[in-house]
Amino acid sequence: MINLEIENVFLKEVDSTQTFVKKHAQEFNQNKITCVVADTQTSGYGRHQRKWLSPSSFENIYCSFYFVLPSSIKNFVNISELLSYSLIEFLIENGLKPEIKWPNDVLLSQKKLAGILCETSFQNETVQIFLGIGLNVNLPKKECSQVDQPATSLLIETEKKWQRDFVLEKVQKQFLKNLSLFLKEGFASFAAKIDHLLAHKNKSLTFYDGDKEYTGSIVSISSDGALNFKIEKTAEIKKFYSGTLITTKKNK
Ligand code: BTN
Repeated sequence: MINLEIENVFLKEVDSTQTFVKKHAQEFNQNKITCVVADTQTSGYGRHQRKWLSPSSFENIYCSFYFVLPSSIKNFVNISELLSYSLIEFLIENGLKPEIKWPNDVLLSQKKLAGILCETSFQNETVQIFLGIGLNVNLPKKECSQVDQPATSLLIETEKKWQRDFVLEKVQKQFLKNLSLFLKEGFASFAAKIDHLLAHKNKSLTFYDGDKEYTGSIVSISSDGALNFKIEKTAEIKKFYSGTLITTKKNK
């Protein structure tokens, strides 16, 4: 099992920290967690290959964690939810009221503050985790309006500037604590906490599973991190492990 320590690698400019960690994985210490942090990305991307706006002058967080776990670990697909929960804890500690848009968008004032992307690769008995987070730290209003869905930043929400590395250090610390708990006890205790933070609960909306759209409402998160979604027409509760909640016209 890996040591729960993070080695940061700071870069000025990169195409994408996610692409970088996937390309250089073998060069990193396989017994620790590596976190590649960039000031700017020229081709940052998100879920469904959407572009992730990554300008340099605003001290946002663009980083990707790389680490290896035994593939026998249950529910490792929920590691992305652990990272969003770690950020949520930091935000609550600072007097903010975050929500989670399932599976792992972090919202403030119903707008997207951070997005998380988890990619995996299996090798024999192990799984390589490439876990990226984009967090709008000091992104001003004008730039937020260029994002393809309602977006916000810590600067907008708190009306003060934040030090990127301070925020990063706090979130990393929470993440290490949560990852350690997850590796010992699994995901169930996180599922219950995340359930309380879910945005758009019990409202009529559309869920897209990558193939089909369903109209219905969010019921809860199950103990393995899946979304329990009630189909409006039949009242059947369907369990989804991946997909997108469509809350604006642009965000499918
Ligand atoms: C999403 O909400 O769709 C996930 C966005 C993830 C963006 C981050 S920024 C750092 C890392 N590098 C990338 O190219 N993407 C992730």
